[in-house]
Amino acid sequence: MRRTLKAYLAFIYFFTLTVFIILSYKNLFDFKFIEITFLLFSLLVINNMSMFFNSMTEINTSMNLPVIIVAFFILNPFWAAVISAVGSVEFKFKKYGFVWYKFLFNRSIFFLAAAAGSLVFNFSYAKFNYPKFPFVSVALASLVYFIVNNFLVYLVIRVSERDVNNISLLSYFKELPKNLITSYFLGLALLSAYIYFGKILFLLVILLLFVIKDFFYSRLQQLNFYTQIIESFLKVIDSKDHYTEGHCERVAGCAYHLCREMELSRARAEKIVSIAKIHDIGKIYVDDNILTSSENLTDSEYEEIKRHSEYGYRLLKDIDILKDELKIILYHHERYDGKGYPEGIKAEAIPIGARILNVCDSFDVMLTGRSYKPPMTKLEIITELEECSGSQFDPEIASKMIKLINDGYFDDKFKSKEVIKELALSFEY
Ligand SMILES: [Fe+2]
Ligand SMILES: [Fe+2]
Repeated sequence: MRRTLKAYLAFIYFFTLTVFIILSYKNLFDFKFIEITFLLFSLLVINNMSMFFNSMTEINTSMNLPVIIVAFFILNPFWAAVISAVGSVEFKFKKYGFVWYKFLFNRSIFFLAAAAGSLVFNFSYAKFNYPKFPFVSVALASLVYFIVNNFLVYLVIRVSERDVNNISLLSYFKELPKNLITSYFLGLALLSAYIYFGKILFLLVILLLFVIKDFFYSRLQQLNFYTQIIESFLKVIDSKDHYTEGHCERVAGCAYHLCREMELSRARAEKIVSIAKIHDIGKIYVDDNILTSSENLTDSEYEEIKRHSEYGYRLLKDIDILKDELKIILYHHERYDGKGYPEGIKAEAIPIGARILNVCDSFDVMLTGRSYKPPMTKLEIITELEECSGSQFDPEIASKMIKLINDGYFDDKFKSKEVIKELALSFEY
């Protein structure tokens, strides 16, 4: 373990202990047995039946907080913090192994976050006179709980992982406002259920939340499953055609940059990138000899290769989750001017994902070369993209691609003139 991590953990344990002692001083005997047991039980159930587990590197407190909000309202800061710390225990040790310092760290951050949240709740509740319902206090307390919890987790990631990059942390924090808002409203729902209708409705609301969560969970599993399928398809494609090994993966990488440059929504970009990874899946139906032939292909052989986009589409068209974007596979060899295949559709009639893939696909061929032609240099590729803009390629996408190349996105992939000359010689047999 790194020294800074040790020091950080020691500090957190010590600080938590101090807060524990200070808070217990007045509050220890203000013990509401039924409420504490009830909330503790709810929290334990939620945390152990839930997919949103709070490990040291995962920032997700969205299901804990709504119950803690109820605790802010009915318990003092000490007991709210205690049930937050104990209620977040997960009994998954068999699966992940029990690591005492992680366990203690998690208890500490849940204790500290709830203690801070509860203090803010009580302070603001006393300060402002509410007509009826503590909307503001719940908001303030949730915010403080969130900030404390996530900031302490952020620090532990920073000190424990050397090569954590800023972008991944930034994207963590980008998700937080969404989580906070969800938690806030769920918390309000739970609190009003508790205040106005008692414990039974509170339990019903929790039950309802589980149904919703289960729904999301099964969606997520489906997505996972689908990524695994894609990955195994990728292996199949690569093993079929060694010459284009890694081609789909590279096209996907390029599509990722282009989608960002085109400012497509994240969901859309993710789908396009996933499809890019398997866009040539139809090649598994094409005869190996044709696919790997280094001699000139006959017309009928060429026609057979061209059918791979249709084969791929037909193979996958019954998978529900892919449905909307599958046309990308079918049309990834269509040209902007309508001279492509299989249907010869034109311009905007070609789905945007397919137009993006077309550029990336050609880019990869130019970059890596094929049995019939050597790779091209950076300059040659830019010229080619310019020349084919409006004919083969969508002009807007081609210009974005040129911009990406000029900005140096693919600089590590271009081959130098000397290397290409050598390669070109080996192509002449
Ligand atoms: Fe293709
Ligand atoms: Fe391709």
